[in-house]
Amino acid sequence: MLMDDIELIELPKILDRRGNLTFIEGNTHIPFKIKRTYLIFDVPGGEVRGGHAFIEQKEMIVALSGSLDIIVFDGVKEQKFSLNRSYQGLYIPNGLWRHMENFATNTLVLIISNTSYNENDYIRNKKSYIDENISI
Ligand code: TYD
Repeated sequence: MLMDDIELIELPKILDRRGNLTFIEGNTHIPFKIKRTYLIFDVPGGEVRGGHAFIEQKEMIVALSGSLDIIVFDGVKEQKFSLNRSYQGLYIPNGLWRHMENFATNTLVLIISNTSYNENDYIRNKKSYIDENISI
C-alpha cells in the first residue's frame, strides 16, 4: 500500500559547538531525483495548506524551523505525522491525499519534489479522489 511507503527519514546530524549542521543529498537521503524545491512560510495561525493529492509528484517535507502536522489519507484511512526537527524529512509517495495544519508561529517548511510545478498533476477534489481511490 502507498501509505506503507511513507517514511520519516532521519538526516545526518553533524554536531558542533559552533552550531549544528544537517544536509540532504539526492538519491542518498531522498528516494527520487530532485527537480524542484519550494518553501511555505508566514502561515497565519489556524490555516490549512496542501489539501490535495499528486498524480506524479513525490515529495520530502522538512520543517526547517517551527512545527506542523501533516495528515496523509489514502482514500480509506488517515495518518498524522508531526514534524518539528530540521534534521527529519517526511517522504510521501505520489498518489496520496495530504494536507498540512497546526503550524506553529514562524514555521518554515521546505518541500523537495521530483517534478516541476504542473497544475495538471493535482487532484484537488477530495470526493473524486475517494471515488476513484486511485492506485497509481
Ligand atoms: P498549491 O500547491 O496549491 O498550495 P497549497 O496546496 O499548499 O495550498 O500552490 C498555490 C499556488 O502557488 C498555485 O496555485 C500555483 C503556485 N505554485 C507555483 O507557481 N509553483 C510551485 O512550485 C507551487 C508549489 C505553487
